[in-house]
Amino acid sequence: MTSIVTEQRLRSMLFVPADNERKLAKAVSNPADALILDLEDSVVEARKVGARRSAADFIAAHASKIGAQLFVRINALTTPLAMGDLAAVVVPGLAGIMLPKANSAADIVRLGHCLDALEARAGMQIGAVCIVPVATETAAAMLNMQSYAGPVPRLAGITWGAEDLSAAIGALSNRDDDGALSPLYALANALCLCAATAAGVPPIDTLYVDFKDEAGLAAACRTSRRRGFRGRVAIHPDQSAIINAAYAPTSEELAHAQRIVAAFAASPDAGTLSIDGAMIDRPHLIQARLTLAQSNN
Ligand code: COA
Ligand code: MG
Repeated sequence: MTSIVTEQRLRSMLFVPADNERKLAKAVSNPADALILDLEDSVVEARKVGARRSAADFIAAHASKIGAQLFVRINALTTPLAMGDLAAVVVPGLAGIMLPKANSAADIVRLGHCLDALEARAGMQIGAVCIVPVATETAAAMLNMQSYAGPVPRLAGITWGAEDLSAAIGALSNRDDDGALSPLYALANALCLCAATAAGVPPIDTLYVDFKDEAGLAAACRTSRRRGFRGRVAIHPDQSAIINAAYAPTSEELAHAQRIVAAFAASPDAGTLSIDGAMIDRPHLIQARLTLAQSNN
């Protein structure tokens, strides 16, 4: 089946524990590009079934009224919960599934087949629901990151995480003494960039834990954007606006990108040009077009 997923803006994706009515109510007016109604780690076992119902009710009540795309993070495909989660939340208005602990692109394909049937049952267009995996949460997943190279049906972005991977490894921490990410988790970050790029979808950075540190979040977003990430997950409502601003191109960047595109348009036979005494060639043009596209969608 061909995917009908088109690239939607996913700068900020706010996690909202789906069993928490107060947080669900608060999320309605949040500026995040997407809300991720969470059924996994933020919901204890005894509340999982109730959380499914709350998520489905929230989607039915709000999907057509709020700007944010509505995602649900289901439980991992290796748990007995995943299929029940899907059966409950694939309702009209669901934009996407976040898949935790994905082991490879084969898990995305498998989830896509389940969605085919559930969309048909719900009277939705087949292919309407996209998938964003958390792609680095198991050791096997790290070894399989090359599986995302090439088109993957329904894939709309790839994000990564360091916490579950360190737990899976049995590491005492994912950071070294100097506070920097240990090599395995820096690799997870880098492979997220490569896998998403190879799949043709945006790489979405992992959460910034210290939700009261707004300056720290803004600085982390700047670094992340320089490295190529196009957005970031949020865990607190105050993080969304900071993330949206940080991943949007600045007016200087837009102006520079427009000059590059205009310069190549004016000299269609030139492979290299100079602007303000600096050499520019095809990679600069590709980057400039990407910058302009980020401001348009
Ligand atoms: N989504 C929606 N609303 C949220 C929220 C979230 N993720 N996090 C906090 N809020 C709400 C609170 O309910 C509170 O609303 P109120 O004024 O109506 O009471 C307000 O925002 C301020 O919250 P604050 O007191 O600053 O935070 P907290 O101590 O209540 O919660 C966390 C802190 C980390 C527990 C909370 O932000 C959270 O649950 N985050 C998401 C966790 C998650 O989903 N993890 C899974 C992915 S790793
Ligand atoms: Mg987790």
